[in-house]
Amino acid sequence: MARVLLGVTGGIAAYKAAELARLLVKAGHEVTPILTDEAETFVSAKTFEALARREAPRALYPHLVQADLLVIAPLSANTLAKLAHGLADNVLAQTALAFEGPVLAAPAMNPRMWAHAATRANVAKLRERGVVLVGPDEGEMAEGEWGVGRMSEPEEVFTRVEAVLARLHQLEGKRVLVSAGGTREPLDAVRFIGNRSSGRMGVALAEEARLRGAEVTLVAAYLAVPPPGKVELVGAPTAAELEREMLARSDADIVLMAAAVADYRPEEQSAGKRPKNAEPWTMTLEPTGDVLAQLGARRRDGQLLIGFAADHGDTGLARAREKLAAKRSDLIVFNDVSRDDIGFDAAENEVVLVSAVGERRIRKAPKERIASEILDEIVKLVSK
Ligand SMILES: Cc1cc2nc3c(=O)[nH]c(=O)nc-3n(C[C@H](O)[C@H](O)[C@H](O)COP(=O)(O)O)c2cc1C
Repeated sequence: MARVLLGVTGGIAAYKAAELARLLVKAGHEVTPILTDEAETFVSAKTFEALARREAPRALYPHLVQADLLVIAPLSANTLAKLAHGLADNVLAQTALAFEGPVLAAPAMNPRMWAHAATRANVAKLRERGVVLVGPDEGEMAEGEWGVGRMSEPEEVFTRVEAVLARLHQLEGKRVLVSAGGTREPLDAVRFIGNRSSGRMGVALAEEARLRGAEVTLVAAYLAVPPPGKVELVGAPTAAELEREMLARSDADIVLMAAAVADYRPEEQSAGKRPKNAEPWTMTLEPTGDVLAQLGARRRDGQLLIGFAADHGDTGLARAREKLAAKRSDLIVFNDVSRDDIGFDAAENEVVLVSAVGERRIRKAPKERIASEILDEIVKLVSK
């Protein structure tokens, strides 16, 4: 049983919060609903009181200090902006500002509101502070428009709430080192050889490890997504820098090598910007260091090493199996890059977890969910 503060803001999706409240209460949690005035123009506070099987508390403070989690669903663009800027002009905003525990929110708004630069910046701020965002999903809006902005279904939000609650202390005392993003190998002062990695998977893993109580360091090459909050962030734009930064921290308890590190880099870099002319530009690419193999070679007793393999189809999976032993890893996360709906630069992924005890396929899901499944597997390995 957990104590959950359930914030509800004003939007069409407020009705979905009633179902979420029902699911939480059914699962045995104590739910304290906090509706904004705007939310009450869509749904009645009485509905939530009845579902929570308790009246709205007169004094919120005792609930605030005892609560395990603050959930805000739906989260309006307006309240999202308030949270990002620390405004406290209603009870929900005050609660969010005063609450010290984990916060999970399910934004819901018109796709253009979601895509607006102001909202993007506000979302980035919340993520930096460690707020877990579920959705929004792509689909048809109540007003008939199509796009990203629908609140995730109550069952999905509920699953994520349960995941956050179950995992709050699982990795307490553990130091977790994660690499993420794609490296860029300079050709000259402005050009580079890169890859399509967005860093989303590594960022999700770092966030998930932190949510489970670990002390997390994220060694980041180029990220197309904001880094998570409350983790130590180390920039490592090239393969050589990433190698150096990872090896310097290789005594961590759990090491996740999720970055897409260039396998080759230009042997020589032109000074300045090579001027454009009619001549071909020929260069030799030399192999970069194998970071995972080096981490494997120096691994200590009790340490867990997780590698990632981005490869094609069944032959790629076979290579991932070989990689497990060759790189002295405990787990290889295989990612099929022959599909363009998952993996590199996509919001979703489908992976196969390859370990000495067998293989497990994790069906297509948002990368945050995949990260959660990978961490479940790691927790099992830690407790062995
Ligand atoms: C019919 C209707 C539907 C709305 N739906 C949304 C919505 O889905 N998301 C959103 O951010 N705002 C929506 N709004 C605007 C918010 O209700 C408005 O910004 C309000 O100030 C939010 O207040 P709150 O964040 O304190 O709950 C809607 C407004 C109306 C009239």
